[in-house]
Amino acid sequence: MTLDEKLQLVHGNLTLQNGIGPRNAVGWVPGIPRLGIPDLLYADGSTGVGDTVGSATALPSSIASAASWDLNEANKYGQVIGKEMSAFGLNVNLGGNVNLTAREPRDGRTFETKGEDPILAGRITAAHLKAIQDQYVIAGVKHFAMNDQETARTQSNAVIDERSARESDLLAFEIGLKDSNAQSVMCAYNLMNGIFSCGNNHLLNEVLKGNWDFPGFVFPDWYATPSSVAAALAGLDQEQPGDYMFGGIWASESLATAVQNGDLPVTRLDNMVHRILRAMYAAGVFDHPAQVQPIDASGDAAIAQEVEEQGAVLLKNDGRQLPLSAASVGSIAVIGPHADVGVLSGGGSAQVFPMGGAALTLPPECPPYTPSPGGLACTTAFEIYDPSSPLAAIRAKAPGVSVTFNDGADSVAAAALAGSSRVAIVFESQWESEGMDLTDLNFSNNQDSLVSAVAAANPHTIVVLESGGPQLMPWLANVSAVLEAWYPGQKGGEAIANILFGSVNPSGKLPITFPASVADLPRPVIPIPNPPTSTAPFDVDYTIDGLNVGYKWYDVQGLTPLFPFGFGLSYTTFMIHNPQLTPDSPITDGFQVSVDLQNTGSVDGAEVVQVYLSFPTGLGEPPKRLVGWSKVRLAAGAQQHVTITVNANDSSHPLSYWDTTANGWVVANGDYTVYVGNSSANLSSAGTFHIGP
Ligand code: BGC
Repeated sequence: MTLDEKLQLVHGNLTLQNGIGPRNAVGWVPGIPRLGIPDLLYADGSTGVGDTVGSATALPSSIASAASWDLNEANKYGQVIGKEMSAFGLNVNLGGNVNLTAREPRDGRTFETKGEDPILAGRITAAHLKAIQDQYVIAGVKHFAMNDQETARTQSNAVIDERSARESDLLAFEIGLKDSNAQSVMCAYNLMNGIFSCGNNHLLNEVLKGNWDFPGFVFPDWYATPSSVAAALAGLDQEQPGDYMFGGIWASESLATAVQNGDLPVTRLDNMVHRILRAMYAAGVFDHPAQVQPIDASGDAAIAQEVEEQGAVLLKNDGRQLPLSAASVGSIAVIGPHADVGVLSGGGSAQVFPMGGAALTLPPECPPYTPSPGGLACTTAFEIYDPSSPLAAIRAKAPGVSVTFNDGADSVAAAALAGSSRVAIVFESQWESEGMDLTDLNFSNNQDSLVSAVAAANPHTIVVLESGGPQLMPWLANVSAVLEAWYPGQKGGEAIANILFGSVNPSGKLPITFPASVADLPRPVIPIPNPPTSTAPFDVDYTIDGLNVGYKWYDVQGLTPLFPFGFGLSYTTFMIHNPQLTPDSPITDGFQVSVDLQNTGSVDGAEVVQVYLSFPTGLGEPPKRLVGWSKVRLAAGAQQHVTITVNANDSSHPLSYWDTTANGWVVANGDYTVYVGNSSANLSSAGTFHIGP
């Protein structure tokens, strides 16, 4: 290859002026016909192929996929994205957001993530990415690393110690990459410990390429390249989407000059090129070029519906209010903004423009503080409703039943309708988006007072939530049932109706803790620059929660959340009997936990058996860590022996802690206890083991 050919591969070809490439790609590296190297065409695709490309299947939000706790289901989710990417003729996917934004549950991108636990998030992400790459589309994780708040994301400096990082956010990335063989990594806008992620030698060279042996290539979040030669030496392999730093427009020295005068060893440029080409071969981009073809809209829509049916979480169901029976329900009032036309989706680059077109497009609700230089301005985003009407789907489930609608704008009228109906179903939704965080965890636009008014008028009030993450529920004690539907995707209305009427038995479990109050968060107030107009880096202190993200934080602080991690109800009941612990020989290889799981109710259903481990005291580990789980489907009355294997040598390091002195994962001597149950807050001991003399 000539020097020019090498340089051509290490940067994108789009600029601020021409932001969209061939096939509407958001990133484009022109190929080299002389050498048979094809174009690289990048598109977003966290919850379906991104909206710049065209109409695609709007899947439920990624957090709904995580809430299924089902890797097969997650594989199908990734397949839809991979197949549609390929059908658009694109070959690099920019999904894979695996940041643990539960550190900041108001984070506007929580809907794109896979929750708060590094093992659950890492494995669900890996299942997505492997399925995408199985379609010959290069997959990757983002935004590496600690990109856990959107507020001032291009200047926030994540402060965290090495052990805490390795055992939390970095572990999620490690599992996501190792279990999928994904070939790309997008580094983040923010700084980590004072250094921009995309010029961070420790993150890119030492951790990613050194410790994890990552063979693929690293490119920046859009325009996040902090320097030219320095970033390349720190491990950045490609600039995106243009050639501003590497080309020397914003930097004092271009890579071309640096190679010629020796500031950048040509071996490093060769390595950058090698990593890109190798990734293209590994993913099959050379051998299986993407062919533009029609999307399997109905097949993919069916998967979207299935994912939602597996990922919606039933949070409350007093007096068996649900499922509803069409034969006996009598009359139903459906209440809530836009529940007659569609379901809400999340905004920003993960926004999908749904097949069939949006049911509704609204201007965004911008929070008061949204500076996001280099990123999205709130005013350029839209609130898009996917074309799946909950009202129509409920009517279809209950032919002959009086189903009336009120949009909730006037809560007195809505309450009056609820009072004259046997059952009231209120849809509450909270939009969130990339580029901004939520101001708080309350539903906006007086929706909480609407629910309270309806609940006061009707004791059979069911609330369906469409949110990207946790929300507060001040009315919780006064309603009879709550279903967390997340952003439910383009078959969301049908999926929700199937659950409400019992055609589907809910089996989702929370992949993220729902706090009782923002006062309980590690940072009750979202950190902002000081003064607010400053463009200088400012610290976000993640040493407060450290390695204790999500349920680990609530455990350590002794706080009771509104709903715990791992929690979710079913229309049937399960019993977990005879927990047994079988240590491997040697125990440092891992262990097996087995239980007899019985469906003790009268309908078929699925339960997620969860295994947690507590470490020797004094080690600084959280009170418990999720180390394994199994989602089991059981017919009414049936019983099954379930075994969960915890392999100490897999990518999740389940028996180890990060030892800063050894600079590696270490198994400590001492006493361990294994817990098993169906939520992080409902566990019993399966046994103990001892390591060491
Ligand atoms: C987002 C990335 C996205 C990129 C390209 C950025 O604003 O942070 O997640 O992949 O744009 O659209």
